[in-house]
Amino acid sequence: MDSPGHVTVLEHPTFLVTCAAGREADARRELRKALGAAEVRSLFLKGNLLLETPGQSREAVLTLLREAKTETVGRIVPVSVEAAIGREAEHMATLGEAALAATAFCAGDTFKVECKRRGEHAFSSQDVQRQVGMYLEAHSPGAFRFEAPDYLVAVEIFQDRAWVGCCVPDDVVHKTITKMRIYAPGERPLNRAEKKLREALQVFGLTVTPGMRALDLGAAPGGWSKALAEEGAEVLAVDPADLDPEVASLPNVTHFRGHSQDLLSLPDLGRFALLTNDMNLDPAESAAIVLPLIPLLEPGGAVVMTVKFMTPRREEHVRDALRVLGPHFEVHRQKRLPHNAKETTLLLRGPKP
Ligand SMILES: C[S@@+](CC[C@H](N)C(=O)[O-])C[C@H]1O[C@@H](n2cnc3c(N)ncnc32)[C@H](O)[C@@H]1O
Repeated sequence: MDSPGHVTVLEHPTFLVTCAAGREADARRELRKALGAAEVRSLFLKGNLLLETPGQSREAVLTLLREAKTETVGRIVPVSVEAAIGREAEHMATLGEAALAATAFCAGDTFKVECKRRGEHAFSSQDVQRQVGMYLEAHSPGAFRFEAPDYLVAVEIFQDRAWVGCCVPDDVVHKTITKMRIYAPGERPLNRAEKKLREALQVFGLTVTPGMRALDLGAAPGGWSKALAEEGAEVLAVDPADLDPEVASLPNVTHFRGHSQDLLSLPDLGRFALLTNDMNLDPAESAAIVLPLIPLLEPGGAVVMTVKFMTPRREEHVRDALRVLGPHFEVHRQKRLPHNAKETTLLLRGPKP
């Protein structure tokens, strides 16, 4: 497509759809079944689809998708503008222009920018949120508002392409993914994930003792929670997706079906000796989610976290995560484990008071 800086207003209603990674074909089938004719293509990163619906209105598509019975479709975000961008910080200006083209604010309208960035850039999701917010405030009658804004401006970045949309917050559809895995319960992936955590605990010299409390972020389908629970830990498993029934039924595993970002709104979580984090997110984003949870750790407590290599610049991803979390811990170690494919594992121990 076009060179960086080019902004295109899309002709047809378009949506970014997340689905279970590896389940793209199922998600495509579910979308087509719900909508009839629709064009669906895969994006840069597994588990992300672009849906175009010529001849149907955005509202009709959202209603149909909200009502459709699906198993593999997650979040559906309406977008209306596509932008070609580069990796450098100057490309945030293009995102500002794209956001302006996607919005039509009147005086008194309030908005919030939410960016999800995939790929390798000289800017973070937070940088985009800030810059695009400032651009919109300068060039439109809209005003930024963090709490309960009228509109949500979604900026979804996939390496050198960005899609931008503006909608009322309720228009973003959140469906529950109930079919995460290609394999049957108890088969390979659960076991592999279990192995990965067991290796990490061994390499980092961490002992899980009966009754110890563990907070497992990004827990589904439940390999890590299972490994912890089998050592006797009391596990709070956090994930919007289902746990494998074998894990969900363990007496010492409690599933919080939601995002880790929502944990602090729960009352009385108590303290944890161990926080494990295997969320499949950009490492900087993943670390930023862990940051406000550090006070939940007991003195001497530990974080075991996988750093997902979203791009070939592996060391940069490790640095990103350590930049956020490192200063808050006495000890940090990194280890590429035999069961780490496109990731490495970090240990952070001894939260600083
Ligand atoms: C690689 S899988 C985790 C595998 C897991 N450790 C196991 O042993 O089975 C990544 C998980 O992170 C979850 N996830 C992604 N973002 C999340 C968030 N913000 N809060 C909680 N879970 C999240 C996904 O739903 C997905 O189930």
